[in-house]
Amino acid sequence: MNIPEKELVIVLDFGGQYNQLIARRVRECNVYCEILPYTTSIEKIKELSPSGLIFTGGPNSVYDENSPHIDKEIFELGIPVLGICYGCQLMAYTLDGVVTAAIDNSSCEYGMAKAYYKADDVLFNSLPESGTSWMSHRDYISQVPSGFTVTAHTDVCPVAAMSCPERNLYGVQFHPEVNHTENGKEMLRAFLYNVCKCKGTWKMENFIDQTVDELRQEIGDKGVVLGLSGGVDSSVAAALLSKAVGKQLTCVFVDQGLMRKDEGDYVEETFTKLFDMNFVRVNCQETFLSKLKGIDEPEAKRKVIGEEFYKVFWDKIREDYGTGYFAQGTIYPDRIESGKGDAATIKTHHNQVKRPEDIKFEGVIEPLKDLFKDEVRIVGEMLGLPHELVWRQPFPGPGLGVRIIGEITAERVKLLQEADAVLRDEMTKCGYEKELSQFFAVLPGVKTVGVMGDSRTYDELIAIRAVTTDDFMTADWAKIPYEILGRVSNRIINEVEHVNRVVYDITSKPPGTVEWE
Ligand code: XMP
Repeated sequence: MNIPEKELVIVLDFGGQYNQLIARRVRECNVYCEILPYTTSIEKIKELSPSGLIFTGGPNSVYDENSPHIDKEIFELGIPVLGICYGCQLMAYTLDGVVTAAIDNSSCEYGMAKAYYKADDVLFNSLPESGTSWMSHRDYISQVPSGFTVTAHTDVCPVAAMSCPERNLYGVQFHPEVNHTENGKEMLRAFLYNVCKCKGTWKMENFIDQTVDELRQEIGDKGVVLGLSGGVDSSVAAALLSKAVGKQLTCVFVDQGLMRKDEGDYVEETFTKLFDMNFVRVNCQETFLSKLKGIDEPEAKRKVIGEEFYKVFWDKIREDYGTGYFAQGTIYPDRIESGKGDAATIKTHHNQVKRPEDIKFEGVIEPLKDLFKDEVRIVGEMLGLPHELVWRQPFPGPGLGVRIIGEITAERVKLLQEADAVLRDEMTKCGYEKELSQFFAVLPGVKTVGVMGDSRTYDELIAIRAVTTDDFMTADWAKIPYEILGRVSNRIINEVEHVNRVVYDITSKPPGTVEWE
């Protein structure tokens, strides 16, 4: 097998909001890159020997007391550098250019601006002479460092791009990584291929071949056990490990009875029919329900579900699979060191697997640890996982437990599963699910009066939640057409016993969260 060498570009993180987007764009150009904090030492960078460096944007002014700075030596390593926004200003400031701090709003630019490019610059020479660029800055570069030339400007910004081709140093004040910048990806591609001389070896088929080889070598003839949740990441990790070591892999699927209708069976069927592995399903709805009896406070419910889940999981592993390797579906964004402060805990998420000390594995295997979610999905499709599973919406660890307000009982789980199944069916039928990032039914535990036939009813209310979002940090409530909502409501009331009213949640995040608990 001819596996190409891994080439690397480093994205140095100065705290900007688009950092992961930059890295994803670079990877879309088939170049492997990693995000490292701006505090990474020069020695470390030399050791990694990247083909290029990209400085990200950041919220600061170079003149702020605590703004991130960088050692001038980085520009003397002979490694090409592209500075973006703050990264461009920092390049100008650290070399001998002049960054002018905004004193009023006349030099600020936020949003779209027309940029005029110097036709012979390597970043722009294949592009039209002008184009829309996405700007977001207060300070601006008023004088480029010696040896640099101005390679783009806007009506407001005298230096929208600058370059010093002799030293392979480039900077853009705008954001080429966002879709609003016309030809932004082409500019990044030009930097990667024409300046850094990358070859473009980062392709998912290479990734699969290489990872399968590495996994075989590492695992040898030992066993490996993986916690499979049915989510995208653990499913793709399972498929990859199955390709590498077949029956040496055991997937443990803990079904706490809080999944969507028929989902547990679907996961079991997929993995037992399509993949070579040992599949172990632990059904434990009754244990979960007995632990959850009488508990209605959201954080307390989350705590019980999380603790119980890991107890059942580790007990099973301790009993039967406590040797060999332990695998998990960690992906790249789970482990990027952001250097930003901790956000306040709004909800406890139960995704970090804490391993009990008494189980001594040979080691931990994380075959997807370098991939972004979109790459994980491509790998999943290539490995033959069903489309529905690869493009599955996020589903919270505590499952329907956070969509049943108040106490969780078997009857309430069943009722919500039925309502949710009708909603999903209707959305699939009309094709509207593609417009939504996430949608589901909630059982608020509110009873209202209705009339069905000629009789009074006093029954449950179902709420529909549907959002659109890029990153789930913020989200908009989805503007689902009334006809579709009408059909969903009609079907739920007719098909799900004990529901006599359906409402639609029109709260964005913030102030709401996506889940109700
Ligand atoms: P919130 O409700 O925090 O949800 O706005 C944002 C996204 O996270 C999902 N979510 C979870 N995912 N474990 C998970 O793996 C959890 O405990 C959890 N809680 C919420 C939620 O479905 C949405 O996609």
